[in-house]
Amino acid sequence: MSRIEYSKKVMEHFTNPRNVGTVDDADGIGTVGNPVCGDMMEISLKVEDGRIEDIKFRTFGCASAIATTSMLTEIIKGKTIEEAENISWDDVVKSLDGLPPVKVHCSHLAIDGLRKALYEYYRKRQIYRPDLIPKDEESHHESSPECE
Ligand code: FES
Repeated sequence: MSRIEYSKKVMEHFTNPRNVGTVDDADGIGTVGNPVCGDMMEISLKVEDGRIEDIKFRTFGCASAIATTSMLTEIIKGKTIEEAENISWDDVVKSLDGLPPVKVHCSHLAIDGLRKALYEYYRKRQIYRPDLIPKDEESHHESSPECE
């Protein structure tokens, strides 16, 4: 059985994750599941003047999910909503000096959680942004913004 090698940055974020928890009085909370492994992610965020003022996460995910989401929260804090929408899993993986190929799907959990939280942020403001819903959840939300 081969051993998975992680970068120093992945190990550092896994052993000392940033921004763990739930943002008080969040403007958007995104909860998603990973269709590959069944793990879960919750991301909550607070927006002030169009910028992500605070962001936190909780996960039932693996070391890669914890490390990628920890890194994602550091990248996202202080960014505008538009900048946050355009962050990709590839940006986060590069910031961690890479992930083993079998673990790349774990970084999708972080991005899907962020996009779902942004979707909820817009939905609270009566703005429907189906483009922010993770693909595997689209069928549950495509009918209307009120659909829960
Ligand atoms: S194995 Fe499930 S998130 Fe990594």
